Amino acid sequence: MANLCNVDGSIVPEAEARIPVLDRGFLFGDSVYEVVRTYAGEPFGWPEHWRRLQRSAAALRLRLDLDEATVARRIAATLAAAGPGDHYVRIVVTRGSGEAPNIDLAYATGAPCWLVMVRPLTPMSGKAARLAIIGRLRNDRRALDPATKSGNYLNSVLGLAEAKDLGATDCVMLNQSGHVTEASTSNLFALIDGAWCTPPLDSGILAGITRALLLDFLSRHGEPVTERNITAVELRRAQEIFLSSTLRDLGPVTHLDGRALHGGGPGPRTSALLERFTEHMQQRQRDHYAPAWRRLTATP
Ligand code: PDD
Repeated sequence: MANLCNVDGSIVPEAEARIPVLDRGFLFGDSVYEVVRTYAGEPFGWPEHWRRLQRSAAALRLRLDLDEATVARRIAATLAAAGPGDHYVRIVVTRGSGEAPNIDLAYATGAPCWLVMVRPLTPMSGKAARLAIIGRLRNDRRALDPATKSGNYLNSVLGLAEAKDLGATDCVMLNQSGHVTEASTSNLFALIDGAWCTPPLDSGILAGITRALLLDFLSRHGEPVTERNITAVELRRAQEIFLSSTLRDLGPVTHLDGRALHGGGPGPRTSALLERFTEHMQQRQRDHYAPAWRRLTATP
């Protein structure tokens, strides 16, 4: 299995993929992206990822010049070239190259650059995390909305570095009101006073696809989750905490600020949920996403 890149329709080994130095994604983080995982060679949750890519691009005034089927066929061709096994797929769209290294959109005269990276998937499902509530705040929604999955991830890069300095494996970032938002690349759920809760979208978070699936799954299985503001004090007295993302599915949190939760292992409700939710996702892939993907990528 190889690491491959599809750059504007051409598939090359990752080490040979090149982006021009005037590309605005490289110069300014002027790009949007999605991370998708496959099950048996087919992306999970593609319709949701495509919709979020469209929303992110609209937020950046970036006009996507390819339609969904064209992008899906590029992904399918790259996956086919990479061979069997499960893959990590990163789709990046930059605003393309300008005439000069000038931030003004008037200089952004080139077409968007479309990159698809395909790598063997490193299994991270259920991977445990040790969290630290850090001093750096989540970007304010009025400055750079965390709901936009842009190539400017420095808020998360520096947040994660701060957490690692504190001996943790990931960060909890607060917003300017002192409420919990999310981790560096995952959403957060907590069991507080016996009830699941998760920060609301307007706290300044990415609208995670796994988060939305979990909200639906839990409410349909008699364990509704409240979307509400959570303070750092409340989080510190949570019985259980877990992270959710495409790559982790659901990652139990074993420590918060150096303190072990439930003896330093995963919480019992989290472990039980991980098992049921993983089964649910596999079934959803078989019944829903895989057939839709095949229809979308069938040659017209
Ligand atoms: N990250 N919050 C942030 C800041 C994220 O970057 C991500 C995804 C999530 C979870 O979203 P989803 O469930 O749709 O994957 C929450 C991906 C995995 C990444 O950047 O690698």
